[in-house]
Amino acid sequence: MCEADFLSTVRSALEKSCPDVDAFVYDSIDSTSSEAKRYAREGGKPAVFIAREQTAGRGRLGRSFLSSEGGLYFSYLFYPDIKPCDAVMITVYAAVCLSEIIEQITSLKVSIKWVNDLMVDGKKLAGILTEGAFSENADRFKYAVVGIGLNVGRVHFPSELADIATDIESESGLLPDISDIAVRLTKRLGEFKNKSPLDYMDGYRMRSVVVGKRVRVERGGESYFATALAIGDDASLTVLTDDGIEKKLSSGEVSIRL
Ligand code: BTN
Repeated sequence: MCEADFLSTVRSALEKSCPDVDAFVYDSIDSTSSEAKRYAREGGKPAVFIAREQTAGRGRLGRSFLSSEGGLYFSYLFYPDIKPCDAVMITVYAAVCLSEIIEQITSLKVSIKWVNDLMVDGKKLAGILTEGAFSENADRFKYAVVGIGLNVGRVHFPSELADIATDIESESGLLPDISDIAVRLTKRLGEFKNKSPLDYMDGYRMRSVVVGKRVRVERGGESYFATALAIGDDASLTVLTDDGIEKKLSSGEVSIRL
């Protein structure tokens, strides 16, 4: 789809189907999440930011996120009424929503690698990054931005990603309509305020690829091996280290390798 068609198709689909959300669509931008943060106004209307490519896409833990044409780069700005320490629940809810949407429009079976990676056949299909700003005493969100990068059309990954990343088209032979995915995601994320973890944690756990596996836990500069035991209702991951110590990990600074 050419640039002008992409912009107008995605924008008009969102305006028609999600009238309560401001929609901003770009051909190229540094990062949709950076744009969402620049736009955020405390207590304002939810807004969605979508781009065909990003020049400075961000991932978790300060990593960059490859954002070439063919993907969906999507950020949803909203004002959740949850404690900032529960921010991970936004990521978890978004992971379940996106998995369900992909499964509804393709025949793919989506798995989730704790905490924010969507996988198909052992390769990464999408990543999610939730960011926010907090009130002065840090007891509530001023705003939150959930950023989603989904590889939709065939991507020519650089050699270091070729074996570990994939896209919907390569896996399913289908090229789904990006505006359809964007509308479905916007609607589902707008329902977060009415959901409790009981509504989505089972969907998260049933797709988990880490539980029962031996994993390498990386925290700061350190790493150790452990067996993943369970994911709690607060999205924490309990592991048993090789030294026999049970640890409850929160997503913060931890990254898991299978
Ligand atoms: C990760 O896999 O570590 C998370 C990746 C999140 C990428 C998305 S793409 C849209 C939004 N804009 C960004 O710069 N990052 C998020």
